[in-house]
Amino acid sequence: MNVLGIETSCDETSAAVVRDGRDVRSNVVSSQIELHRAHGGVVPELAARAQLTAIIPVVEAALQLAEVGLEDIDAIAVTRGPGLAGSLLVGANFAKTVAYARSIPLVGVNHLEAHLYANWLSPPGDEPGEQPAFPMLALLVSGGHTELLLMTGHGRYEQLGRTLDDAAGEAFDKGARLLGLGYPGGPAIQQAAAGGDTAAFALPRAWLGDSHDFSFSGLKTALLREVEPYRLPDEDDEPEDDAPFRKHRPPRFAEGMPVADLAASFQEAIVDVLAVKTATAARTFETPQVVLAGGVAANRALRERLTGEIEATSGTMLRVPALSYCTDNAAMVAAAGYYALRRGAQSGWELDVSSRLPVGR
Ligand code: KG4
Ligand code: ZN
Repeated sequence: MNVLGIETSCDETSAAVVRDGRDVRSNVVSSQIELHRAHGGVVPELAARAQLTAIIPVVEAALQLAEVGLEDIDAIAVTRGPGLAGSLLVGANFAKTVAYARSIPLVGVNHLEAHLYANWLSPPGDEPGEQPAFPMLALLVSGGHTELLLMTGHGRYEQLGRTLDDAAGEAFDKGARLLGLGYPGGPAIQQAAAGGDTAAFALPRAWLGDSHDFSFSGLKTALLREVEPYRLPDEDDEPEDDAPFRKHRPPRFAEGMPVADLAASFQEAIVDVLAVKTATAARTFETPQVVLAGGVAANRALRERLTGEIEATSGTMLRVPALSYCTDNAAMVAAAGYYALRRGAQSGWELDVSSRLPVGR
């Protein structure tokens, strides 16, 4: 079964053709990073307009790469939330129209669940490997979410823990802004941290006792305190009333700020808590498999550290998606849609988008 996946929840426009929920025939991602960089973050209205102009060329490219036409598509899976409403509407409306015109099934997919299904995908050219096995523990770390989930079957989730404040990706993004490293913050911090000393600064970890919850807002405040002495006053030469379209002004720092050490220590503080708490949950729930998912799953330090922690936990194996399936993409949406259709979760033509949507809904 060929599923056309469509992902437009934020600032990436993506379309993918995936066969039987795992065999990726194409996965095209058009990023708006350059558009938003000047603003230091995603501007929702600009994001929605860019989705509208990109959607058809991106779908055409995905069909071409997969060497199929719309007549070879058996179903359409589209992200219905969570995300930016204006961006989501572009993908949902496109998907509905095509499914209606072709009289094929449409399925709305939860973006968070789609991230988990990145673990079912085989990269193009690879033979489909062994599929993940239930029950599994999932660490979902994206720009808006940080959750520890117990997945007991397709579409069956139990939330064990979540962030009480900032998401892990949000912490990376805010930390990068504090360090003047720009947007998106995760890759910028990873790059700046290379060669830095992870122990140079003793930044706080919120362990929160026995709970499986997370908290990253204290860490951000601690980083601010380390950076403050180096900060120079803003050059205040622009009027304030054109916000949010005003060009983002990165902070200015005095010479000698130890950026690599700060970035490395900050990244280590996030990775440490994520890896240790995930391994603890794997032991508590005795899950034979742990999967990592979401944009922050692309972080090299997290992948290495979690591998170490899980290897030291007997009876559990770690699975991480290929790098290109960690950040937002439509292949994961197609995979999640395939399994949703198999359990009869087809959407009606009244399908709506939802900017807030918990896992399992
Ligand atoms: O899953 P995603 O692409 O979009 C959401 O659904 O939010 O995640 C984006 C988040 C951003 O916060 C970004 O900074 C972070 O993932 N990210 C990373 C890395 N690549 C992306 N964080 C740390 N290290 C990375 N290499
Ligand atoms: Zn995402």
